[in-house]
Amino acid sequence: MGATEGEVPSVDQGQTADGDPLAIIQQLQQQFEVEAESISDEAELAELRARYLGRKRGALTAVFDRMRSLPGELRAQVGKQANQARQLLTRRLDEISSALAEGRDKRCDLDVSLPGRTVHLGSLHPITLALQEIESVFTRMGYEVVEGPEVETDWYNFEALNIPKEHPARDIQDTLYLGGEWLLRTHTSPVQIRTMQRRQPPLAIIVPGRVYRRDTPDATHTPSFVQCEGLVVGPDITMTDLKGTLDHFAKALFGHETRTRFRPGYFPFTEPSAEMDATCPACAGNGCRVCKGSGWVEMLGSGMVHPAVFEAVGYDPQTVQGFAFGMGVDRIAAVRYGIDDIRTLYENDIRFLKQFAT
Ligand code: PHE
Repeated sequence: MGATEGEVPSVDQGQTADGDPLAIIQQLQQQFEVEAESISDEAELAELRARYLGRKRGALTAVFDRMRSLPGELRAQVGKQANQARQLLTRRLDEISSALAEGRDKRCDLDVSLPGRTVHLGSLHPITLALQEIESVFTRMGYEVVEGPEVETDWYNFEALNIPKEHPARDIQDTLYLGGEWLLRTHTSPVQIRTMQRRQPPLAIIVPGRVYRRDTPDATHTPSFVQCEGLVVGPDITMTDLKGTLDHFAKALFGHETRTRFRPGYFPFTEPSAEMDATCPACAGNGCRVCKGSGWVEMLGSGMVHPAVFEAVGYDPQTVQGFAFGMGVDRIAAVRYGIDDIRTLYENDIRFLKQFAT
């Protein structure tokens, strides 16, 4: 805040320093200094300048005006003093002016030493990241990415996959039925059927997609999740191809030191069927929180395509063989990124998702 107007002493007021012009000049300078301290913007500065040096109302200007009527010797003395004072005040006003300009520049963000402002561009969801890695491994081996509908018919989701009417997977407790023939697909396997119907072997596809089950959410289950299916069909495809391919996949995803093991499994649409485990990438198989101390993580279900499935799509099981596999992408993401509750993948908590920004 600047000083109030009208406080500046003037030569003809005579009430200060007994009207002695030299004393008045000194007093003017002192008071100017006090007022200069509190200048905080351009307008206050202009006002200060006008009050002391202004042509019309400047207190120092007035000293010059009155000087002419002084006797010769005193006039020379006062003139010298007044000139010095004017130089001093002018310099001071210029200093304040550049200090204000510097402050203004700072406010305009020109301080290059400040760290930059972070722009949040968003990031890919961990499931998308995991899926991109999975797709990349298989597309490098020549697989094609294929998608299919989430609303399916009973025939594509069950019947054509050799899952008979009385199979427990069809139970109302597992499947979300929409009425009539329609249901929400419980796995990505119906896309095997749709692709084989449209095309002739050989083929190698992977099928990422969302699936639905009547599950109560817990740390390892959500009623909707993402699967990735795989299917290879051609002449002379064997279980060895299945094992070699899936072992390569585990190594590509979790690191080349990863080992795999196949356990007998059961799926109506594959025979024989096998579950594949991989050594836990978090602890290199020593046992940790991620693998619950076992050193192994479940990666996928797999098997040789059942002849009944080939028959359902009109392929001849005598001339073509194939293998298929399916995995929960959420579980892969959980193992890959050390997530211990897959529900967090669907809650969209920005603080959780931000951690996967690359
Ligand atoms: N469809 C199976 C499931 O949802 C996974 C699977 C796919 C198993 C292909 C074998 C072959 O559990």
